[in-house]
Amino acid sequence: MDVSPRDEQVAAEAAVERPGPMQWWRTAVVYQVYPRSFADGNGDGVGDIAGLRSRLPYLQQLGVDALWINPWYPSPMADGGYDVADYRDIEPDFGTLAEAEALIAEAHGAGIRIIIDLVPNHCSSVHPWFVEALAAEAGSPARERFHFRDGRGADGSDPPNDWQSRFGGPAWTRVTEPGGMPGQWYLHLYAPEQPDLNWDNPQIRSEFEAVLRFWFDRGVDGIRIDVADGLVKEPGLPDGAGFDPARGVPWSDRDGVHEIYRSWRRIADSYDGDRVFVGEMWIPDAERFSMYLRPDELHTAFNFDFLSCPWDGTALRTSIDTTLQLNEPLGAPATWVLSNHDVTRHVTRYGKENTTFDFADRRHGAPNDPALGMRRARAAALLTMALPGSVYVYQGEELGLDEIENLDDSLRQDPVWERSGHTDPGRDGCRIPLPWSTEASSLGFSPSGTTAAPWLPQPAHWAQVSAAVQENDPASMLALYRSAIAIRKRRRGLGGTGFSWMKSEPGMLAFTRGDGFAFALNLTDEAMVLPDHTSVLLTSTALAGGCLPPDGAAWLAVAPEQD
Ligand code: NOJ
Repeated sequence: MDVSPRDEQVAAEAAVERPGPMQWWRTAVVYQVYPRSFADGNGDGVGDIAGLRSRLPYLQQLGVDALWINPWYPSPMADGGYDVADYRDIEPDFGTLAEAEALIAEAHGAGIRIIIDLVPNHCSSVHPWFVEALAAEAGSPARERFHFRDGRGADGSDPPNDWQSRFGGPAWTRVTEPGGMPGQWYLHLYAPEQPDLNWDNPQIRSEFEAVLRFWFDRGVDGIRIDVADGLVKEPGLPDGAGFDPARGVPWSDRDGVHEIYRSWRRIADSYDGDRVFVGEMWIPDAERFSMYLRPDELHTAFNFDFLSCPWDGTALRTSIDTTLQLNEPLGAPATWVLSNHDVTRHVTRYGKENTTFDFADRRHGAPNDPALGMRRARAAALLTMALPGSVYVYQGEELGLDEIENLDDSLRQDPVWERSGHTDPGRDGCRIPLPWSTEASSLGFSPSGTTAAPWLPQPAHWAQVSAAVQENDPASMLALYRSAIAIRKRRRGLGGTGFSWMKSEPGMLAFTRGDGFAFALNLTDEAMVLPDHTSVLLTSTALAGGCLPPDGAAWLAVAPEQD
């Protein structure tokens, strides 16, 4: 075979600049696909696997290393697929198991790994196990798979404890017994259509171990674990009121959960090809959070501390330091996440007066400055992609999509809207089908000629930020993401763990990553002089007379540090 000098150069670069294949998850750029809203291949207005397969070239060009696909299992969609009716099949609206297998193979062919979403805390109320439990008696083995309890009060009409659903209202629903009388209650930390599974029951443990193997056998490279902190409950299910705050809360982060992940890790490790877990835990205590990342547990977990952090130099610096310091001794890579399908899109968040994210105070409707939000979002992209660890990109973030806050209330589908008594608008605003082109009916979300409308309406202004429009604009958000990901792949230091803050003026966040790379972010209201550099690699905004404008970020080549 002839090898041209150019091929040799590419091969040499690949050898030194790519993290080893056994380490892919330490530095990966992972693109989150919310399948209902990514791309519709069959023209029914709902995104599907066919649509995702047709857009693999786009994702390959973006340069992402892996996809995380939100739940794709058969589901009544009471909570966007987080109510799973069958863990070993595909939702018919999304396609078939054969199509999922074809997607995995095609993605692998394109150099893209696949992470799927597992929902072990609860299943759907139409899952055969729950149907069986409803038909069975109190105390039966079928009910033992869930948390069924008698109610309190003389006639059992009060819930068994004071726990609240995270979607609002009590975390318990009373069932009508087979004989027609009101009977026991069952626990659901989320919607009533999502009964919590009882992880003290060995059958649940073995079932999920089998489910892990089912998907690993089909070639998936990783598993995102939904509500990873919630599986084990405090024995006896005590009230939250009066529970010793030093011991946390009785429904989350119980010590017993770690044994589950140790057994799962053994399964992942028994497969070839470096299969990984990413945990979803909204745990305020950073030390407790890091315990999930011990070497025999989860490989990674979403860094929600950083996601929730305000756009403020001191707060950002503290969050970065805390993350790196906690992860370092565990040998676990940090993750950097700005948005996902549960939170307000960060272009909108960063344009508000209060730039933090908090579920309890979603601040929908608070005014926002779109231009300011966009400037900060561009800088935040360069910040996260310059930090050591892996990066998550939520679909549409690379287009700079905003949160749609004026959705008609009658169209809202997120159960949060109803369960909160219409006080929390829910998460539909970050789940609007993507704009691929300016094509009139669905902005290219569905094939042209489709008459079915997208399952949530797209705003007219998204035509101008569609992928097709940004494709031809070197100043677009899409171009920025493509360039940043490409540089990140080329520069060896960015895949490493080296990191040190540089001395800088107050209001500037600046750090080096070794290998002659430096990052600078201006968090003041005035343009600032860049740190010493040999060349500018990439900026989030045009420099002004060589200076970095407010909310601007720059990637710099600097003279390599001397030993
Ligand atoms: C976290 C998921 O990200 C969210 O979308 C879902 O509603 C809850 N877990 C319950 O499964």
